[in-house]
Amino acid sequence: MTILQTIKERRSIHSFKKENVPPHILKEIFTYGTWAPTHYMKEPWNVIVYENEGKQRIIQATIDSYVRLGVLKKDGTEKARKTIHSIRQFLFDIPHHVLIYFPIEEDPVRYEEEYAAVCAFIQNVQLAAWEYGVGVLWTITPSMHEEGFAKDLGLSPQEVKIAAVLQMGYPEKVPVSKGRTNIEQKLQFCRTRE
Ligand SMILES: Cc1cc2nc3c(=O)[nH]c(=O)nc-3n(C[C@H](O)[C@H](O)[C@H](O)COP(=O)(O)O)c2cc1C
Repeated sequence: MTILQTIKERRSIHSFKKENVPPHILKEIFTYGTWAPTHYMKEPWNVIVYENEGKQRIIQATIDSYVRLGVLKKDGTEKARKTIHSIRQFLFDIPHHVLIYFPIEEDPVRYEEEYAAVCAFIQNVQLAAWEYGVGVLWTITPSMHEEGFAKDLGLSPQEVKIAAVLQMGYPEKVPVSKGRTNIEQKLQFCRTRE
């Protein structure tokens, strides 16, 4: 596939086959990620892949965080127990959960530069993954803004910012494209001085 085709044909994947992507393929995919532009060559991206039984750690951290945020109830009722059980199972069926974080910069310009570079890294990862037949869902969840979530994963929320959690695996189903707004509606050329 050409890069132009890949850019258009990549889709966010919501359902995955159960089999893992081999570690050497994941490593190659993340290596393509690292070719993202990065101001001052800071290469701010850091990646933790949760797979196999390691998934329990991020799943538990996510559930605990949702309980603290009041998104999930844990009141001992059968209904709450079933909801938590089904979320746990749904998340466990996803082959890889990939945490992406970067060191916090106090200066807002620097902070934006680092976040932007990390987003470029993520898009490179998504495109490279597609070339390997691997699907990705880029997620931003409320737990990523909750300090306890980072702490439960052994990270300091004062020192690092969690940018995303990617769900990864071989696609079970590829959604139909939602298309895009014609760029003519959002594109202007400025060709005069006034
Ligand atoms: C920063 C970012 C965060 C996203 N977070 C979520 C998310 O939390 N859940 C989700 O289902 N999709 C999420 N998406 C994926 C978008 O929903 C998806 O890109 C959009 O629907 C277009 O579909 P496509 O990627 O297949 O073209 C996110 C995308 C971006 C760029």
